[in-house]
Amino acid sequence: MIIEVENVRKRHNDTVEALRGVNLKVAEGELLAIIGPSGSGKSTLLNLLGTLDRPTSGTVRVAGHDVSTLTDRQLSALRALHLGFVFQQFHLAAGIPILDNVADGLLYAGRPLAERRERARAALERVGLAHRLDHRPHQLSGGEQQRVAIARAVVGDPPLLLADEPTGNLDSASGRQVLAILRELHTAGTTIVMITHDMDIAQWCPRRVRIQDGSIGEDA
Ligand SMILES: Nc1ncnc2c1ncn2[C@@H]1O[C@H](COP(=O)(O)OP(=O)(O)O)[C@@H](O)[C@H]1O
Ligand SMILES: [Mg+2]
Repeated sequence: MIIEVENVRKRHNDTVEALRGVNLKVAEGELLAIIGPSGSGKSTLLNLLGTLDRPTSGTVRVAGHDVSTLTDRQLSALRALHLGFVFQQFHLAAGIPILDNVADGLLYAGRPLAERRERARAALERVGLAHRLDHRPHQLSGGEQQRVAIARAVVGDPPLLLADEPTGNLDSASGRQVLAILRELHTAGTTIVMITHDMDIAQWCPRRVRIQDGSIGEDA
């Protein structure tokens, strides 16, 4: 199992318990959609899987590591080696060529700049943007920016890609391109966990997990 979540609760503050005893296992190579109403705890769960946050109680294991036992330094290493993250807002660095936006995804690996740039170029080629390497994010469409964000997330070849509504800000044609890239990554062996509110996209995933009021409902 690349992900094992056991009895996880997450309290954001005194009044909000966003997750109320979640159990979830994801095997290597799965493509899974997380669905559910707004405010049901989807992003909270994905952030825990991405080790961006810690559970109030319960266990989150990613690639065999119990996240609560790791130091900040070990968490950084886990994220750098095992995880790619894509958000609804693309989170690219403004004013910086997309080649370097993507190459910066490899900073942790400590490789020379020329090698980071070559791997970034290859990742951008994979998402169909090899002809735009020196463009700045604002010179690209939303769909192209999201493809850059995916290239940055996968430039280090992480086994696990987490995506929080990656098509949420895109028109349907751009959304389809982004999904085609995710499908290729899945076919190549990447495990993908994707939040979506789009039922067409959810139907297209082999497994759907529904979250309601901080608990897992249907899982099929
Ligand atoms: N950082 C935070 N501080 C306080 N409450 C939060 C925080 N993040 C999320 N919440 C609350 O937790 C609940 C679940 O939020 P979230 O996980 O973002 O849901 P979803 O992604 O399904 O829309 C909501 O009630 C939300 O307002
Ligand atoms: Mg959300």
